Amino acid sequence: MCGIVGYVGNSLAWNILLGGLKKLEYRGYDSAGMAVIHEGRLNITRVNGKICALGECLETDPLPGVIGIGHTRWATHGKPCTVNAHPHRAGRVAVVHNGIIENYMDLKNSLTSSGSCFQSETDTEVIAQLLNHHLDLGAEPLDAIQQSCKTLRGSFAAGILIEDDPENLYAIRKESPLIIGIGEGETFLASDAPAILAHTSRMIFMDDGQIAVLNRRGVLLRDFNGTAVKKTVRKMTISPSMAEKGGWKHFMIKEIFEQPRAVADTFRGRICEETGAISLDGLKLTDREAKEVERIVIVACGTSYHAGLVARRMIEDLTRIPVEVDIASEFRYRDPIIGPNTLLISISQSGETADTLAATREAAMRGAKVISVCNVIESSLARSSSHGVIYTQAGPEIGVASTKAFTTQIATLYLFAIYMAWKRDSINSEKRLQLVKDLVHLPGLMTEALAASNKIAELAEYLERFPNFLYLGRGIDTAIAYEGALKLKEISYIHAEAYAGGEMKHGPIALISEEMPVVVILSPNHVYEKMLGNIQEVRSRGGIVVAVCAGEEDPKVAGLAQAIIRVPASNQYLTSIQLTLPLQLLAYYVADLKGTDVDQPRNLAKSVTVE
Ligand code: G6P
Repeated sequence: MCGIVGYVGNSLAWNILLGGLKKLEYRGYDSAGMAVIHEGRLNITRVNGKICALGECLETDPLPGVIGIGHTRWATHGKPCTVNAHPHRAGRVAVVHNGIIENYMDLKNSLTSSGSCFQSETDTEVIAQLLNHHLDLGAEPLDAIQQSCKTLRGSFAAGILIEDDPENLYAIRKESPLIIGIGEGETFLASDAPAILAHTSRMIFMDDGQIAVLNRRGVLLRDFNGTAVKKTVRKMTISPSMAEKGGWKHFMIKEIFEQPRAVADTFRGRICEETGAISLDGLKLTDREAKEVERIVIVACGTSYHAGLVARRMIEDLTRIPVEVDIASEFRYRDPIIGPNTLLISISQSGETADTLAATREAAMRGAKVISVCNVIESSLARSSSHGVIYTQAGPEIGVASTKAFTTQIATLYLFAIYMAWKRDSINSEKRLQLVKDLVHLPGLMTEALAASNKIAELAEYLERFPNFLYLGRGIDTAIAYEGALKLKEISYIHAEAYAGGEMKHGPIALISEEMPVVVILSPNHVYEKMLGNIQEVRSRGGIVVAVCAGEEDPKVAGLAQAIIRVPASNQYLTSIQLTLPLQLLAYYVADLKGTDVDQPRNLAKSVTVE
């Protein structure tokens, strides 16, 4: 994630930028910084920590000047610290960035060999170095920006200041949001509207492939070839608090809809579509160690535990390594069997869950190699993982009920499973290539799946009245059923239980009546017919069947279920992500109708740092 602001006008920039950054803190909060040009000099202040720390610093030592850029960071490349905080400076250029530059290593190597001297571990610094390089070669600012945009791969929204061009603030956008605010004699830049809504309601939403030149007179828009682009100014009517959530009523629903982007960011720069090669930069497992793994143990809590259950199936199928999944609080208090070739995978969104940390320490003490799958860079878990960490790239998750962290955990572990299978030669290269290509198509399919949202909202109006729900799945979908039930109970306070379909006859069937909605997860796989059998059993006892299906329509399901939600299928592993989306939406709409505090449900916490 990360948040960007920019200002050019007649007022003191730092004050306005700081106000804007405070509104963007939800986008990241591990470090912050600001650059302002004053009397022909570019001055920069950066701090490790939250925006209030930057504020304290600026209050004692303000940055004079009427043109500036600011940033709040959510680390993706390089740990949170002052040197990695934005703005990044190279010569006369300062840059703030949101996104991921995929080819930064190649660019860094080639710029270093032409004499550039890098200070940070970030991908962002290549933007500043590249621009400065073109300026040093005599390019005009706009030319330098155009040339750089054509070289950069990945996603970027960036604000740029050039020391000897103190009238203009530049902005570029590709696949990350950027908004320009038009004021009277002043112009603003921001990742999101709330940062500038206090100053203006007239906004231009930049499109991909655009460069903007902002100054006191307004803004000029160009494409990456330098051709002028027509601009459309929109008048915003939303309140600042609505705007903080991007116009969504809650962070949870915003985060549900962010998932195609989050999953795309998770595999961005880690796969090669042509060869099926995978690079997991944070993984410190040598090829030999990867071959020697005899057993994998996964530990996690809550939603992360459910991602572990999905991962077990993927890893076992593709690598043939036996996998166990344990609840971290259980693992730490039994006498776990760990051998020298046991690999422990700890999954945690926050990287701060006390039980997961304790279980990880326990396993490490007994000699396991430890890797973690984590969303927060440099979290306690990431730091204690001897054999590396693979970061999910979900960005900050604010809603207590985990959504985008879950689907990015599955995507990350899918990458890990293919990587291990590749290193151990347990799948051939055609299969690997196909698995990688399926991942590339996934964000588009997820967007299609989310289009069922209105239908699910209607269904929620009918289902909201029932006090108990049952969720059923088989195979990998059992984990998805667990996750669906957990989502419903945590935010709507409705009692929901999940079972493997085959277990229904061993107890839950006694609960079925006209008062019991049963959410059945149906994938087009080898146990499909068995699930149809379960649906028959529910129907013949009067239960209400909500079928959440992937793939082609099936008249047999239509004849049995009262409601059907259908999503496009992918391969069996990625279909689990697809099937999760309607379950998240169903839980959300039911909870919203019940009027609960969706983003902060009672008794729950985002990060459980105590036992
Ligand atoms: C809490 C949160 C859940 C989360 C679980 C594990 O219970 O409410 O959403 O899944 O902790 O958190 P972690 O950060 O370790 O994934």
